[in-house]
Amino acid sequence: AVLLAVDLVEKAIQENPSLNLGAATGGTMEPIYGELARRVKKGSISLRNIKTFQLDEYFPIAPTHPQSYRSFLMKHLVETTDASPENLYVPDGAASDPAAACEEWERIMCENPIALQLHGIGVNGHIAFIEPRKNPTREIFSMRTSLEELTFSTLQSNSRFFKPGEVQPTRAITVGMGTLLESVAHFVLVAFGKEKSAAVARVAASRLGLVFAGPKRGATRPVRGDGGSGHLELSASFKFVDV
Ligand code: PGA
Repeated sequence: AVLLAVDLVEKAIQENPSLNLGAATGGTMEPIYGELARRVKKGSISLRNIKTFQLDEYFPIAPTHPQSYRSFLMKHLVETTDASPENLYVPDGAASDPAAACEEWERIMCENPIALQLHGIGVNGHIAFIEPRKNPTREIFSMRTSLEELTFSTLQSNSRFFKPGEVQPTRAITVGMGTLLESVAHFVLVAFGKEKSAAVARVAASRLGLVFAGPKRGATRPVRGDGGSGHLELSASFKFVDV
C-alpha cells in the first residue's frame, strides 16, 4: 500500500519536478515519507524543487514544538530527503490572530494549486481536521480554512503522540473542504487498519467520495467501499484497492 502511494508521488514528480505536493501528517504518513526518503537516497526521485503544503496545524502551538505539524514534516520529510525547508508551507499555529492566519492560508492555497494531495482519514472520518458534523449540510463543501474545535475522538486518538507534560492543543487551523476541492487536482487517501474501515467506507459511499472521484479529477472508476470488512488499506486517487 505504501509503495503504491509513493509510486503515485514519484510519477507526479517525474512529470513535474517542481510540483506542489499536498502533505499530511500522522502515523499513516510515516512509512510513506520513509519510502520517499529511501527513493531520494537511491536517486530515483528528488524533492529539491517541490513545494509542500500541509493540510492543518494545531492551535496554539509553537512551530518548534515537537508535536507541531511543522516539526513532524521537518523530521520526516525535510531532514530525511533533499526537500528544502524554505519550500515547506504550514498554517501558522502560533499566530496572534488566528482569523488572519486562516485568511492568509486561503490566499496561499489559492495561489498554489496542489497537483497531488496525500492525506489520511481519522477514525471518526475527519479529513485534515475537518471534523464530522452531526447534521452535515451542503455548506461543508464550500468551507474555507478555519479554526476548528477538535472532537473528543480526535483528541483521544492523537493523545498517543503527546508525551507526559506536553499540552495537547484542542483546536487546529484546518483547510476547508471548499479549499481542498478548489485547489487539489488529485487526492491520494491512505488508511491502515480495521478501525479506519468504517470511516473509509462512509466516505466512499458519500457525496464526498463522488466529488473526490468526479471526472474533473480523472478517477478511472467510481468509488467503492469494502463493506466494512476491515481489510481496506489504501485508496489511490479513489481507485480503491483492497489488500
Ligand atoms: P493517523 O491520522 O495517520 O495518525 O491515524 C490520520 C488522520 O487523522 O487524518
